[in-house]
Amino acid sequence: MTRRTITTSIFYPNGNPHLGHALEWVQADFLARYYKLQGDEVFFQIGLDEHGLKVQRAAEARGLDTQTYIDGQQEIFQALAAKLHISADVFVRTSSDKHKAMAQAVWQACANAGYIEKRTYAAWYNVKQEEHLGLVAEHPDPAVFGVDLAQVEKIEEENYFFKLSEFTPKVLEVLTNYSYAVTPEFRLQELVKFLQEKGLQDISISREKSKLSWGVPVPGDDSQVMYVWFDALVNYLTHTCEIVDGKIVPGPQWADAIILHCVGKDIARFHAHIWPAMLLAAGLPLPKELLVHGFITREGKVMSKSLGNGVEPTDVIDMYGADALRWYLLSALPTTDDGEYTPERMQAIYTTDLVNNLGNLVSRVVNMWRKYAGDTAVLVPDESPMKSKVVFCHQQILSAIREDLWMQEVCNQILLLLDAANHSIEEIKPWVLAKDPSKHDELLSYLSGLLEVILHILNHLQPILPELSARLPQILGEDGARRVYNNDRFFTVEQWGIATGWQVPAESDLQLFPRITLPE
Ligand code: MSP
Repeated sequence: MTRRTITTSIFYPNGNPHLGHALEWVQADFLARYYKLQGDEVFFQIGLDEHGLKVQRAAEARGLDTQTYIDGQQEIFQALAAKLHISADVFVRTSSDKHKAMAQAVWQACANAGYIEKRTYAAWYNVKQEEHLGLVAEHPDPAVFGVDLAQVEKIEEENYFFKLSEFTPKVLEVLTNYSYAVTPEFRLQELVKFLQEKGLQDISISREKSKLSWGVPVPGDDSQVMYVWFDALVNYLTHTCEIVDGKIVPGPQWADAIILHCVGKDIARFHAHIWPAMLLAAGLPLPKELLVHGFITREGKVMSKSLGNGVEPTDVIDMYGADALRWYLLSALPTTDDGEYTPERMQAIYTTDLVNNLGNLVSRVVNMWRKYAGDTAVLVPDESPMKSKVVFCHQQILSAIREDLWMQEVCNQILLLLDAANHSIEEIKPWVLAKDPSKHDELLSYLSGLLEVILHILNHLQPILPELSARLPQILGEDGARRVYNNDRFFTVEQWGIATGWQVPAESDLQLFPRITLPE
C-alpha cells in the first residue's frame, strides 16, 4: 500500500479567498482523489497562516481583536472549501495550541543542534511578503528591492538567526538528485541556479514582541516571537507528527508517506530552499515532491487583492456550480504555468465542454438505447473501434500524472475521448441503422460500445467533477452508478465490458449541466 500526504500552502486570512486560492485547493484535491482511486492511502490537508504583521494589521483596520478576526475569516475559507468539495482531512490553523507547540518543538530541535543564534540586526523588511530583505542598501531603492517601497520598512533589533547558509550543499543535492522532486522542471532549474550562483544566506527568524505581538513566542525568550515563515512552514508537521517528551516523532503520514506540497510560484523557494533546511536542521525526514503552479491572470495581470482584479470563487460557483469551476481551473489553465480567467472564457468552456460535449453525449446515447433497445441488457462487444481509444486515454492519463502531475492533460484526454464518441455517432448514424431491422444486432452492439465509453469517461471524471459523480445514481440508476464507481477504483486498461449486463433505467434525469445564458 502506498501512503501519500498531500498539502496545499496555508493561506493568509487577511482578505477573502480568491481564484488563486481555489486553483491551489482544486489541484491538490484532484490529486488526493486521484491517488485514492488508485488505491493509495491519502492524507490531505489545507489551512490558514494566521500569524504575522499583515493579519494583525487587517484585524486592527477593522477594529477587531486578531483572534476574533481570524475566527471569522476561517469560517469564510472553510465555507469555500466545502462549496468546492475539497476533500481535506484536516484544516490546519497556526493559531491553534497544537500548532504552536509544534513550531516551538521545531525551533528547539534546530537550536539544540546549534543552527539558531542571536544577532544584532538592522535590515529592510517587506511587510507584504513578510520577508526580511537584509541590509542590502543604506537607502530603500526600488531597483535593489524589486518591490513597491510602500511595502518596505526598516527594522533594527536583536533577532534570532537560522544558519540557513550551512545547508546550501545539502539542499542542492536533494533537489538535483530528485529525492525532493520539483515539478515542473523549469522551476527546478531556477531554484538550482539560485543555489549555485548565490547560495543561501542566514535568515532572521524572529521579531521583537513589542513590534509584533501576534506570533508564536520563541522558546525561552518571551521578548521575541517567531518570524511568520518559520512558524508557517511547520504547519506540515502539526498533524503528521507527535511531540513526545519534547521530541518530534514523525507519524506514518510524515515518516512513511510520499509527501507532496502544492504551492504557487511566488513561494516555491520558501518550500524548496528554507523548508528542507529546517527539516535537516531538526533531524526530520524531507518531503518527496513539490508541485509549483502558476498564477491566474486577468488581462495578463496577476489576480490579487491589491490590484482589485480578483474574481470571487463563490460568485462563479453560484452561477455555474462547483464542478464547472473545477473543470475550468484544471482544464483551461496550464497546470504549472500562468493562465487567464475571464468570465467569457468560463461561459464558453462550460457550454462547449460540459453542456454540449459531455452532457449531450450522455443524454443522446442513453435516449437512443431507450428508443432502440428498450429494456434489453447491454452487451458490450469484445472488439470495438472505441476500445483502443479508451485504452490509449487511460494510459495517457496515468503517465501524465506519474511523470509530470499534468492535470490539464487528464482533461485533454477526456475531451479527446468525448470528441471521438461524438464524431463516431455522426459517422455511424445509429438512426439510419435503426431503420434496417437486419442491422438491429449491429445497432445494439454499437450503442453498447458507446455506453461502455461513457462509463469509462465518467470513471475518469470522478476526481474532477465530484457533484456530477454524486448524482450518477439519478442519471444512470443505482446499477449504472455502481459500475462507474467500480468500488471506488479507477478502471484498469484490462477492464473492458463494464457496461455488460447493465439494465439502463427507463427514466432518469439526463440533464447533466443546464444551459446557462449570460444576462445582456
Ligand atoms: N501564507 C503563505 C503561504 C505559507 S505556506 C507555509 C502565502 N499565503 S497566500 O495567501 O498569499 O498565498 C497562498 C497560495 O495562493 C500561494 O501558493 C500563492 O502562490 C497562491 N496564489 C496567490 N495568488 C495567486 C494567483 N493569482 N494565482 C494562483 N495562485 C496564487 O503565501
